[in-house]
Amino acid sequence: MGSKRHRLGFTEKVSELQGVRMRILFFAGKGGVGKTSLSAATGIKAAESGYRTVVLSLDVAHSLADIFDLEQCLLDQNQGRPVPVAPNLYIQELDIQEEIRTNWGDIYKYLAILLNTTGLDEILAEELAILPGMEEISLLLYINRYARDNAYDVIILDCAPTGESIRFISIPTTLEWYMKKLFRLERTVARYARPIASRVYDIPLPGDDYFQAIESLFKRLRGVDALLTDPDITTVRLVTNPEKIVIKETQRAFMYFSLYKMSIDAIIINRILPTSLKEDYFSDWIEGQRQHIENAREFFSPIPILSIHQLREEIFGYDRLKDLADRLYQHRRPLDRFFHDPPFDLSKTEGGYLLTLKLPFADKTDVELNRVSDELICRVGAFKRHILLPRGLAGLDAVSAKLDGNLLRIAFKGDRHDR
Ligand SMILES: Nc1ncnc2c1ncn2[C@@H]1O[C@H](COP(=O)(O)OP(=O)(O)OP(=O)(O)O)[C@@H](O)[C@H]1O
Ligand SMILES: [Mg+2]
Repeated sequence: MGSKRHRLGFTEKVSELQGVRMRILFFAGKGGVGKTSLSAATGIKAAESGYRTVVLSLDVAHSLADIFDLEQCLLDQNQGRPVPVAPNLYIQELDIQEEIRTNWGDIYKYLAILLNTTGLDEILAEELAILPGMEEISLLLYINRYARDNAYDVIILDCAPTGESIRFISIPTTLEWYMKKLFRLERTVARYARPIASRVYDIPLPGDDYFQAIESLFKRLRGVDALLTDPDITTVRLVTNPEKIVIKETQRAFMYFSLYKMSIDAIIINRILPTSLKEDYFSDWIEGQRQHIENAREFFSPIPILSIHQLREEIFGYDRLKDLADRLYQHRRPLDRFFHDPPFDLSKTEGGYLLTLKLPFADKTDVELNRVSDELICRVGAFKRHILLPRGLAGLDAVSAKLDGNLLRIAFKGDRHDR
């Protein structure tokens, strides 16, 4: 089907993409909120507008193939490579075994040997040598490669539930840290200690091919953090449901993505019950949902909130997904960046953190800050903002708040311990 691609003239399309070479969209949120459905739906819209689009799944419980009503064997045959599902549209679900073969050879080999020498049987050692993070790094490698090779105009990421996708976006920073602080040291130590260690212990130290493999992996990842934190290229759409706990998790995700400097350009509240059900059994649900939606609006404002009702049927197959996209975006162009202004910025400073909030119409005299457990409540006259602090930050003291134009800068003292 690849040959049937009817890509429109790219230059003509570029202007529509707001002058941007490519677009990366993340759909993130708690388990079951609708990430896969909305990623697939958005992929369809992008492809139908003529963009070469790939929807990549970061969820180990892959369901992209099911949602497109494809036979799983079609994907299995493709060994984790992109599979065409419509003109311009591909889906890709990673196959970790295949990734190990192509990206992780020497690293995996060492880990498997290491685990095997510690007494584990060979098969179990091979299983365990699949480290947490390998799949995510493989996905980052794809994103980087697709961007560099201009293989697609649009990359859509169907994220794993929140916790795992947070780990995913922290990988470039963590790796950078590892390469800077530990890698060279480990390599040197291994080089000198290897002859002695092999005589004294049964445990093998990694050979230089292991370090070379890490270095090469790191090289291939270079630049991916710049792609993910460039708001003209990458934005995150947080998917949520109108339920207290789900919205709370969305607020936390919002802070984390912001912490990693990723731009959130929409909050999607999915599965809202239609008010026509009000007379029925669902009336309490509907009232509860109304309140949660109102709270979400207050919390996330001014980021656009897109909403979708609970539909009559389960969503699978091209037509239903397309209908879902129409309901979601209505008059909007799905690839536009819906929100430009970061509402706050969280950055590391010497000895602590600095949270900068944009406060419209602020006047120095009426700024009031209150901490209620992990929430910071910032009141400026009639304007109130609840900020759910990332866990590590919640334990720190907010030491000072300073208003600078319409920017409120809150300094936190201490170091986070969650990294
Ligand atoms: N607006 C909606 N109306 C009706 N059903 C919906 C709606 N949105 C999603 N669903 C259904 O909810 C289920 C979960 O959706 P989906 O798989 O997209 O969520 P997810 O966030 O990807 O879940 P997971 O975290 O398990 O990967 C699916 O069966 C889907 O058809
Ligand atoms: Mg899913």
